[in-house]
Amino acid sequence: SVMSFPAYAPTDEHQMLREAVRALAEEKIAPRAAATDATEEFPWEVYKDLTAADFHAVHIPEEYGGAGADALAAVIVIEEVARACASSSLIPAVNKLGTVPLLLAGSKELNKRYLSPVARGDAMFSYALSEAEAGSDAAAMKTRAVADGDRYVLNGTKMWITNAGVSEFYTVMAVTDPDAGARGISAFVVEKSDEGVGFGPKEKKLGIKGSPTRQVILDNVRIPAERMIGAPGTGFKTALATLDHTRITIAAQALGIAQGALDYAIGYVKERKQFGKAVADFQGVQFMIADMGMKLEAARQLTYAAAAKSELAMHGQPQKDLTFFSSAAKCAASDAAMEITTDAVQLLGGYGYTTDYPVERMMRDAKITQIYEGTNQIQRMVMARQLLK
Ligand code: CAA
Ligand code: FAD
Repeated sequence: SVMSFPAYAPTDEHQMLREAVRALAEEKIAPRAAATDATEEFPWEVYKDLTAADFHAVHIPEEYGGAGADALAAVIVIEEVARACASSSLIPAVNKLGTVPLLLAGSKELNKRYLSPVARGDAMFSYALSEAEAGSDAAAMKTRAVADGDRYVLNGTKMWITNAGVSEFYTVMAVTDPDAGARGISAFVVEKSDEGVGFGPKEKKLGIKGSPTRQVILDNVRIPAERMIGAPGTGFKTALATLDHTRITIAAQALGIAQGALDYAIGYVKERKQFGKAVADFQGVQFMIADMGMKLEAARQLTYAAAAKSELAMHGQPQKDLTFFSSAAKCAASDAAMEITTDAVQLLGGYGYTTDYPVERMMRDAKITQIYEGTNQIQRMVMARQLLK
């Protein structure tokens, strides 16, 4: 009919996917979450379990051997993994972040070569935009790629790269024309095994401790020119267009962390007795629970709306407001996650402050969602630019 409204509400298939991921997460991921946090080791066992169930990169299209799941499905997988373990949720999230540049701008040949191993679970894919002096101001990067015959030679140091060292492949943004500003940046695929690729030590972090964050050091890395993603000078556009799709997955991570904290707090306040009754009987506690649930659901609906737009945009229907929605979803969900996890600690009292309970970990893990894939000040700047334009 003339009036056709694309629904973004989860379908029965989405619901079944959620149940399947939740079952795996409760059985295999949640029991390992505290140890992953304490040992700061990458959760290889979780990676194996996610891969065996085909939940490690559901977004990869069928033509490259993937499951071809839509953006909402990817959100649901990340939410459910993050509800158990935020570090582990960076496996599907960063696999998407690293590969969306190829899906948006890569040639079929390049995509076949690099997406199929990710779909099979033989390789992970990271995304390297930031540098020590170029975080929010990403276009100020210094990493250089200089043409030399049919090769490019890369030099520079990328900072804060999630899953660096465990990923086989890297989307690296580098300057090919230093006089052209943001239009002089190009995107490349770099392999861990390329000569001259090195990694800095693991950063010691507040949270997501099971996900290594390291520098990617490029020392005269010579790669074939075919490894450029898209045309010369389009790398910054590709990098930002990618974030339009993947800030939604960080929103999903934040939702999952917050859901985990809310669920735990609800169980706790019903059991914990003070003044002769369950603390859940006090209105002061009930109003906190109500606010936590309200903030979470508002952020979730915004994230699902953003995911629906991402899905349309990925399939030839550009969405003018995708940039606004993905920034809004990431900002709202991460702010909600910080508030909800902090309140969860509050609701467990002194016990919540100890590592005997999972909510302090969730609070530490929530913090990063307000910082990466653009700080929340940058999200507000992006939203305002779209609204005022
Ligand atoms: N899609 C496509 N192109 C875009 C775009 C978008 N959403 N937004 C801007 N562009 C284009 C512009 O049109 C412009 O191109 P033209 O000159 O050809 O028109 C070019 O990109 C530069 O745009 P701006 O002048 O707006 O760029 P800017 O220098 O002012 O920077 C910014 C914009 C929003 C601040 C951007 O730098 C930014 O998002 N910074 C935050 C960095 C960030 O999010 N990093 C995340 C790293 S990944 C990570 O953290 C991983 C993890 O969590 C696991
Ligand atoms: P800065 O840009 O120096 O910001 C400092 C402060 O100033 C912030 O509060 C910021 O919001 C504020 N600020 C800056 N500019 C403005 C402005 N114009 N208006 C208002 N406030 C402003 N990057 C990758 O490329 N790949 C990754 O995989 C990756 N993973 C990460 C994992 C972790 C654990 C961390 C900590 C970071 C990761 N990052 C990654 C980098 C991340 O995206 C940057 O840290 C982030 O974009 C902020 O940059 P910065 O740290 O340089 O902060």
